[in-house]
Parts: sequence; structure tokens; C-alpha cells
Amino acid sequence: MAEGCSSTETGIRKIGAQLDASMREASRKITQAHPWETQILRWCLTDDSLRTQILRFIDCLPALKNPRQIVRHLKEYFPEENKRLPWPLRIGVRAASPSLLTGAAVAAVTRRTTLKISRLFLAGANLEEAFATIGRLEEQGFQVSVDLLGEATTSEAEAEAYTQRYLELLQRWNQHLPSHPHISLKLSSLAFPFDPVDPERCWRQVQPRLTKILQAAAAQKGFVNVDMEQYHLRDLILWLTQRILDEIFPEETEVGLVIQSYLKDSEQVLQKLLGWITSRGRPVTVRLVRGAYWDSEVILARQQQWPCPVYIEKSETDACFERLTDSLLENHSKVRAAIATHNLRSIARAIVKAQELKVPQDRWECQVLYGMGEAVQQAVQELGIPVRIYTPVGELLPGMAYLVRRILENTSHASFLAANLLEKS
Ligand code: FAD
Ligand code: 2OP
Repeated sequence: MAEGCSSTETGIRKIGAQLDASMREASRKITQAHPWETQILRWCLTDDSLRTQILRFIDCLPALKNPRQIVRHLKEYFPEENKRLPWPLRIGVRAASPSLLTGAAVAAVTRRTTLKISRLFLAGANLEEAFATIGRLEEQGFQVSVDLLGEATTSEAEAEAYTQRYLELLQRWNQHLPSHPHISLKLSSLAFPFDPVDPERCWRQVQPRLTKILQAAAAQKGFVNVDMEQYHLRDLILWLTQRILDEIFPEETEVGLVIQSYLKDSEQVLQKLLGWITSRGRPVTVRLVRGAYWDSEVILARQQQWPCPVYIEKSETDACFERLTDSLLENHSKVRAAIATHNLRSIARAIVKAQELKVPQDRWECQVLYGMGEAVQQAVQELGIPVRIYTPVGELLPGMAYLVRRILENTSHASFLAANLLEKS
């Protein structure tokens, strides 16, 4: 190993150990505060078929209208004779009768538990709840990026309503919070159908809506991050965002884009993006993530017999995340880096690299997801690194896809946080 390389590695281990110690203490407290929710996530981790059933049940729950329907679905999804069911679930299913009072009680407990799980990951059902949560996080010294839950809209009316909700959020922000607005949004919510087959139509639909949002944000010195979605939408999302910034907002607007390290071509995409950012002459933030759609990308590619766009080995995604971290930090004069992960190794590496490259602290930050990284965010903050929390807001129904992604991540054996959860069981 070259000397520079080994001193980097020693630094990573040192910072990693510091982060790990703070994280263990913080996560012990969180597990104590949410014992039931943590237990359900552990069940999912230890039994794949139970995980599938729990996810399917949570997915259909918002559509069930009364206790009778809830009990019927509980019995169908978790048959009493299934000896592998954890005992509290078996007793609940056995006790529940669609016609008796126990049915209503079990249905109420089921709804409440699901709501509690969703509240682990969603910061509020409406703007009032969101402002209260954000106020608390900002008092603790964190920054936020608010995501109004919703993606892949099913009509133009829904896309318009989604735009209006963002405008309302931006308009009300400074009545409630001392900070400047920082939002994250998904372009698949601003047009219907959001389809790469017809990019010009998408442009005509997205452009006026995104323009209004960017103008409202710019008026308050706000920031707009365009989230990255599934692989087949990636080029459309980048093209639309770059076009609107080139044609309509050459100067003042603060924006961010996302690079996903699980994509095999992510390094080429970052190089192209850096070329565009250089020609634009104004800094853009790039959020580096591993990618939230791994399971569905793999299944879709298999189904359609397409070449798989994502790495199949977790270690390849991890290694790519490190190479992309280096590229972003090396280019800190033109790009602001947001290292978005809960993986301590990745965070420690970014910290050491930023120190080695003498990256000014206002040129990079760490980001975590609300409810995923409470222990991580405290550990990172203790090292004096700014932490921004991605804060999703909305009802369970529009938030279902987001919630399922978080549960999948928390209960996947490849996940850093899941390994941490299992260690404690
Ligand atoms: P880890 O637990 O170490 O990694 C888990 C990740 O590794 C999985 O999510 C997957 O990407 C990858 N993976 C799992 N198994 C394999 C395998 N067998 N082979 C290869 N790779 C594998 N994601 C988006 O797609 N778009 C966004 O806009 C976006 N915004 C985010 C914003 C913030 C602030 C954060 C923290 C995350 C964001 N994510 C986004 C989610 C992110 O992509 C990850 O899903 C999530 O953070 C979990 O990864 P991790 O780095 O924390 O850690
Ligand atoms: C997601 O919606 C955080 O953008 C990421 O899963």
C-alpha cells in the first residue's frame, strides 16, 4: 500500500472508531425509546417471507376502511397456523374476530403500530407538524431539506396540486423558521405522464411548474434540490434540470442534483456534470448517494432482460461511492458536495479526504435521512461537521413508496444500519 494511501486508511479507522463509539451510545437510547418499532424491523431482518408479508400489509392498510376489513386482511396475510410468526403477532391474529370487540381493538392497535412505524421515517403529516419538527431539529443545530411526499403522479391535476403545496411551503417557511428554505423534490411529480419517450412534452409540463418553484425559492434565498429517481428517468431528470438552469435561471438560483454510486456509469455521468458546472460558472451542489431503488432496478432488468444498470456486489457500490467522494471533494472550487449516507466508513472517508484536500467547511456537508440516521447525525455533529437532515412530510398514502424504501433499507442484509440493528438483538 502506498504511504499516502495507508495514512488515509489510518485516519479513516481513527475517525470511524470515534463515530462508532458515539453512534453506539445514541442508538442504544433510540432503541429504548422505540422498542416495538425496532422489534418489528428486527423480525423483518430475520425472516424474508415475514418481511414481504409485513410490507404488503402496510401497503394495503391505508385503503382498508373498517376493523372488519383490517382483521380479514390480517388473517389472510398472517395465517394463525404459520408457526414462524412471532408470538405477539400470532396471539393478535388469533384473538381478532371480525365480529367481536377484540376485532376493533386489534384493528386499532394495528393502525396505531403502523402509524408509529411510519412516524419513525416521516417528519409530519402536514406543514404545521413539519414546521414544529424542523424547529426542533434546527434548535439542535441541524439543517434540513424538506421533501413533500409524492412521486410518479397519476394526473396533471395532481402535478399541479403538488406544485402548489411546494409554493405554500416556501411562502410560509419564514413565518415559522429563521432559516432559508431548503427543499428536495421529485420531477416525476411535476408532469403526467413523466416519460422519457417524450422529453419535449415533459419539458412543456415541468418547465412552468419548476420555474414557479425556483422563483419562489430564489425570492427567499432558498435552495432547491432535484432528487434522483429510477434509472430509466435519470437522463430525463438531468436534462430537464440543466435545461431550465441554462435557459431560464443562469444566475441566482441555488440548486442541487444527485449522483447514485450504485449505477455502473455514475462516474462518467459525474464527469459530464462537472463539465457542465464548469461551463455554467456558478457552483452547484451535488448530493452523492448509493441509490434508493436497488431492489426494483435489479428485478426490472431481470424481467425485461435488460443489462442491469446497477452493481450486483455491494462492495462495488461502496468502492464507487469512495471514488465519487474523491472526485467531488477534489473539485470543491466548482461543486459543493453533499455526502448523503448513514455508512460510517463512507462518512469517515469523506472527513479524512476533506481534511487532506483542505476543503473549506462551507464547500461540503453530510446529509442523512430523517429517522434513519439519528445516531449517525449526532455522532457526525460531535465532530463539528455540518449535518443536513432530509425531512419527508406528508400523509401515509402518498408517502407509501418512500416508507417501503426505508423499511427495505432498514431490513436489508446489505445495509449498514440493519447490521447495526441486528448487532443489538
Ligand atoms: P449502506 O447501508 O451502506 O448501503 C445500502 C445501499 O447499498 C442500498 O440502498 C443500495 O443502494 C446499495 N446496495 C445494496 N445491496 C447492494 C448490492 N447487492 N449490490 C450493489 N449495491 C447494493 N437515493 C436516491 O436514489 N435518490 C435520492 O435523491 C436520494 N436522496 C437521498 C438523500 C439523503 C440525505 C440520503 C441520506 C439518502 C438519499 N438517498 C437517495 C438514499 C440512498 O440512496 C440510500 O438508499 C440510503 O442512504 C442507504 O444507503 P447508505 O449509503 O446509507 O448505506
Ligand atoms: C427516496 O425518495 C431519499 O430520494 C430518496 O427514497
